[in-house]
Amino acid sequence: MNKWTKGLFLTMIFLAGCSSDSMNDEPDIGTTETSTSDTITQQMRETGIDGDADILIAYFTRPENLEHEPAVEAVSGSSFNVIDDTLVGDVQVIAEMIAEQTGGALFSIQTEVGYPNVYDEHTAFATREVEEDARPTLMTDVAEMTEVDVLFIGFPVWWNRAPRAVLTFLETYDLTDKQIIPFATHGGSGLTNSQNELQTLYPAYDFLEGFAARAGSVEEAEPNLLNWLDELGY
Ligand SMILES: Cc1cc2nc3c(=O)[nH]c(=O)nc-3n(C[C@H](O)[C@H](O)[C@H](O)COP(=O)(O)O)c2cc1C
Repeated sequence: MNKWTKGLFLTMIFLAGCSSDSMNDEPDIGTTETSTSDTITQQMRETGIDGDADILIAYFTRPENLEHEPAVEAVSGSSFNVIDDTLVGDVQVIAEMIAEQTGGALFSIQTEVGYPNVYDEHTAFATREVEEDARPTLMTDVAEMTEVDVLFIGFPVWWNRAPRAVLTFLETYDLTDKQIIPFATHGGSGLTNSQNELQTLYPAYDFLEGFAARAGSVEEAEPNLLNWLDELGY
């Protein structure tokens, strides 16, 4: 039932340091019992950091949502980044840059049921989720969302949309009083369609214009990311 990453979902990293691409639209996917009661403050305590967590960077990434722990050299269709012998998803790379620049706290959105490690099986799985308008159950939970003023929400573009698990996350909380700032990585589609879908689904939410970085070159997006964050005041 739970996937390999169960032990990792507690990870709430508070980093200090810091990447955009333009938005465009054609789909191009390139080659390629419920939530716990963990809270931001608990996780901050674990990392020895206290203070107000008014900025939260919540992100969803494929490597942390697979059915089985991926071997560095053996993930089908992988374009993952290898950092310290660990596979790190594109979205996580960007999320960590945002955390470093803003001082925000990181939160990994993880589903109870992991996605197939085999890429083609994964894409078929994700297609079914869209067709069924699924809301996958999450096993991570931000108990102190009321403390958050600014929510960066990051995801890989899947079928020109946000993964359905991101919708589950957004529907779990009342976010009407928060600034919500999307960011995404993608194989060519850009963020526009995903951002438009979010704004359509959640008209009461205050989405700012998001940031998109191209898969496979996320590190290179850092200067653009920093400019975008600077424009936002970070
Ligand atoms: C199921 C699935 C669907 C995808 N659909 C798209 C798409 O419609 N457009 C696109 O540009 N990239 C698409 N991609 C590529 C991912 O958005 C891209 O590889 C992303 O950087 C992965 O981020 P991650 O490593 O953090 O999971 C898709 C990938 C998967 C697995």
